[in-house]
Amino acid sequence: MEIIRAEGDFRKIDADLLIVPIFKDERADSGLLAALNELTNGWVKTALESGEASSERNKSVLLHRCEGLKASRLALYGAGDRDKLGLLDLQRISGSILRSFVSQAIRSIALVVRDSGDTKRDARAVVEGALLGQLDSSIYSSNDKPRPRCERLTVVSESGTADFAEAISSASIFAEATNFARELGNEAGNRMTPIELARRAKEMAEREGLGYEELDEDEMKELGMGALLAVSRGSAEPARLMALSYQPENPSCDDVIALVGKGLTFDSGGISIKPADDMDEMKFDMCGGAAVLGAMIIIARLKPRIKVLGVVPSSENLPSGRAYKPGDVLRSYSGKTIEVINTDAEGRLILADAITWAINRGATHVIDIATLTGACVVALGEVRAAVMGNDEALIQDLLGAADQCGERLWQMPLDKEYRDLIRSDIADMKNAGGRVAGAITAAMFLKQFGGSVSWAHLDVAGTAWITKAMPYMAKGATGFGARTLASFVINRASK
Ligand code: BES
Ligand code: MN
Ligand code: ZN
Repeated sequence: MEIIRAEGDFRKIDADLLIVPIFKDERADSGLLAALNELTNGWVKTALESGEASSERNKSVLLHRCEGLKASRLALYGAGDRDKLGLLDLQRISGSILRSFVSQAIRSIALVVRDSGDTKRDARAVVEGALLGQLDSSIYSSNDKPRPRCERLTVVSESGTADFAEAISSASIFAEATNFARELGNEAGNRMTPIELARRAKEMAEREGLGYEELDEDEMKELGMGALLAVSRGSAEPARLMALSYQPENPSCDDVIALVGKGLTFDSGGISIKPADDMDEMKFDMCGGAAVLGAMIIIARLKPRIKVLGVVPSSENLPSGRAYKPGDVLRSYSGKTIEVINTDAEGRLILADAITWAINRGATHVIDIATLTGACVVALGEVRAAVMGNDEALIQDLLGAADQCGERLWQMPLDKEYRDLIRSDIADMKNAGGRVAGAITAAMFLKQFGGSVSWAHLDVAGTAWITKAMPYMAKGATGFGARTLASFVINRASK
């Protein structure tokens, strides 16, 4: 999809559809709507008065062949209450527009960004939302005619004064990177194996000018990555650990930020096997890893002045005659020993070794991201991801970065008493606590490995994919976290 900004008079915009968002309590006798009312011979006023046009969110009314406009159609589009319109709302409105209007007949859309306190931010949200809305997830269907796609999006400034060039280019980068992560997530588990994930990561790293290295199982053995290797043992697909590095020309500080993402390409639970219902969704258990790869794309393109390491441990978790078992004791790469209570608590195991690897590579800050616990979904649903860590300032920066992107985090506590829940009688820790505080005990486990540096953990189990299509987004992976992680890094570099 080509994205351009309108130059000059919007009456001259060439598009199949021109969309004007309208807000609660807007009238046809002032400002933009008055101008449009005149151009349409009173249609705007009539449509508003009759209730056919309203500010009700996502409600729209269409006018064909309006003489005063070059665009073939005009839509008034309900955008709700102006004061309550957040970044995420704008992204979603724009995504919904893309998904609902594009058809055989409508292949180019012009969207008016209404003047506001931060029109450039709004333009960014609109472009991002449109590109996210555009991504299709029915990637394997063989019979369907391809869904018509929007060929051109024109971003129009209400007053014609805002310059959207920067907004368009940065939003395109954020959205493309998020869509890259979503595409990895949406692939079937038999296709998206650890080896395939690594192949895609390498291809991307080379394209974006990032450093790339990869560990295979022999190299993991040599290093003593007993936790990651244990998870992988039950599967015929060999594990990989991939690392992408970004090195700025002249860093503004000595920090090395490691982003570590869980890349479980399929999680059956292993010997502690999961119930069959919804087990297919566990192909998405690599979405944390995908988010890290997405973030690395944004970082490679926007070039913040700070060193970044993107690390993705990847494996399958399957039961077999070789699989690791409850009761096993593992020696992790850090040297710490782990008693396996439940083989379904595998994400923290592969992350543990990857976090240690990142710290050995000089990471001063570690942020891990993972679809880690069902308990997180119970606590926060699909709305927010959890954030925990050992550095309050780091957590606050992550919360702020998420806010800037329309992604939402919620901090959960990590008081020292939670450590007792994963105490083992025979090893340094257990890999699973009891029924209570599951998202927190998982984080507490990771803290045993990341805790020597400034560390934070994002549990995206509820937000990494959606199980039904939304008006603004196809069903499947959401790419959650890619934008937040990249924004965090960019903010930090310019601090
Ligand atoms: N990948 C799952 C967590 C998950 C479950 C994410 C559902 C999204 C939706 C993780 O590996 C897992 O199985 N965690 C266990 C941990 C437990 C055994 C301590 C869980 O949450 O049940
Ligand atoms: Mn699991
Ligand atoms: Zn898992």
